[in-house]
Amino acid sequence: MSKLSDHAIIITGASSGIGEATARLLAQEGAAVTLAARRAARLEALKGEIESAGGRALVVEADVTDRAACQRLVDQTLDAFGRLDVLINNAGVMPLSFVKNARVDEWEQMVSVNINGVLYCTAAALPHFVEQEGGHIVNVSSVAGRRVFMGGAVYCATKFAVTAFSEGLRMELGPKYGIRVTCIEPGAVATELSNSIADEEYQAKSKFDATPLESEDIAEAIRYALTAPPRATVHEVLVMPTNQRM
Ligand SMILES: NC(=O)c1ccc[n+]([C@@H]2O[C@H](COP(=O)([O-])OP(=O)(O)OC[C@H]3O[C@@H](n4cnc5c(N)ncnc54)[C@H](OP(=O)(O)O)[C@@H]3O)[C@@H](O)[C@H]2O)c1
Repeated sequence: MSKLSDHAIIITGASSGIGEATARLLAQEGAAVTLAARRAARLEALKGEIESAGGRALVVEADVTDRAACQRLVDQTLDAFGRLDVLINNAGVMPLSFVKNARVDEWEQMVSVNINGVLYCTAAALPHFVEQEGGHIVNVSSVAGRRVFMGGAVYCATKFAVTAFSEGLRMELGPKYGIRVTCIEPGAVATELSNSIADEEYQAKSKFDATPLESEDIAEAIRYALTAPPRATVHEVLVMPTNQRM
């Protein structure tokens, strides 16, 4: 029996990329997965695929910038599966741009999704984790939560926030409640994430010549953290493409 076979796991941003690959892998391991994002049709397709393979999945259409929707996400998971063991805060956006172009709407969107979304989902799940004196929160930060790059000032600021919040969570929740906290820090991964970059000056000047990771590489890192023995918190995992310098 897999270590995850009795687990119920929420994954935000499960409609594509890292979240989708993680949901698929954890469902294969026997976990019941709640698939959350805004594009419900893609979540339904993934649920169909997981169920055809004998797995269990629930779709919850949710915008993580909506605090009430994050609470519903937790409540519906508890209703459907009768338990909640893991919250994976993965939803994120990355409309990179140069600061002087002041694309303030995009800055607000990054703060809302990448920071507030993580806070809202965590707040919704925490009372349950505290009461059961156990649980696991996985926050998908980035190498951009460790170092800043040109065009990434605001995105990096949001990911530094996620990394800092993860450390604070670990300190407060691990020793007292046995809740584990993992911060996953991918380098470049081949996903849809950069599709939202609209700053033409940034597009013209940016160049990336490394071979990106696949979403499955990050899903494996998350599985590693989740299946460590309860005494061990895998707190930070940085996964870089072998030929990516920064
Ligand atoms: N790709 C990389 O190179 C890379 C590197 C480091 C870290 N990361 C991080 O990895 C995470 C996943 O990104 P990805 O690379 O897999 O990109 P992706 O394929 O674009 O996936 C992003 C996911 O976030 C969801 N999302 C966006 N806004 C949302 C909102 N308001 N409410 C709910 N869900 C929302 C999207 O779903 P909907 O649009 O359907 O809502 C989608 O499922 C992000 O936190 C990203 O910052 C990625």
